[in-house]
Amino acid sequence: MQKKSTIQKNSIRETARPIGVFDSGIGGLTVFKALRALMPEEDIIYFGDTAHLPYGSKSKASIVQFSVEIARFLCRQNIKALVVACNTSTAVALSEIKKAVSIPVEGVIVPGARACSRIGSQKIGVIGTEGTVRSGAYAKEIKKFFPQARVFQVACPLFVPLVEEGWWNFDVTEAVARIYLKSLQKARVDSLVLGCTHYPVIKSVIARVMGRKVSLIDSGEETAKEFEKTLESLKLRKKKGRGWSRFYASDDPGRFLKMSRRFLGSSITVNQVLKKNFE
Ligand code: DGL
Repeated sequence: MQKKSTIQKNSIRETARPIGVFDSGIGGLTVFKALRALMPEEDIIYFGDTAHLPYGSKSKASIVQFSVEIARFLCRQNIKALVVACNTSTAVALSEIKKAVSIPVEGVIVPGARACSRIGSQKIGVIGTEGTVRSGAYAKEIKKFFPQARVFQVACPLFVPLVEEGWWNFDVTEAVARIYLKSLQKARVDSLVLGCTHYPVIKSVIARVMGRKVSLIDSGEETAKEFEKTLESLKLRKKKGRGWSRFYASDDPGRFLKMSRRFLGSSITVNQVLKKNFE
């Protein structure tokens, strides 16, 4: 059995350590953005596993392996807590990640599910990758908070390439959304969980298709709010100064850079870290 990665002891006080965030690629920048907006003082290290993207169509064994390796790599960067921004990774690998590291780990599914119960909707739609939907993780968590809820899930795999292509407000994106979301409209869901890092980017298209009566729940935003509370309760929250951000990608950073400009509205520097260095 592999040894757990622990917080490395050094002279820096724990609160001053960075937060780690990882995703299968650039989509998790939606979660990064929410964290940054809420906690401008925190230092954040973001890892996008662009070499293995997409996770949504991969096996559980592969996703667990990639996720655990990245969590260990981030622990070696001395992070104080980890956010698994990727819904697919949270759905299939969260317990293995938690077993592999000795720092607090937050996934995106419980916060998303908790938000559904807060709204109190009876019929809840969940959209995500094939892996997330197949796992049934959202439905399981929603039922824990709200046993009488009825959950309707739909995988929307084409949304990811459409977002990455930058076709955010294109007719073709709306046409694809109309096809994917038809069964949820028929089921008359009253709220819809955006259970994938990329979907908040096309929230306005999804809202247009679903209509104004359907509340859209952004799991990433909900996660950022819960994560802040977790850091507060563990007395790990840094409260002063202006935080820095560092970005890693496991493949050529070119595409990451281009997309990050669109996602964040500003330029960043991305360090490439080769697989042999983060295993
Ligand atoms: N980040 C993934 C998620 O939130 C979407 C992209 C992928 O399939 O890797 O599920």
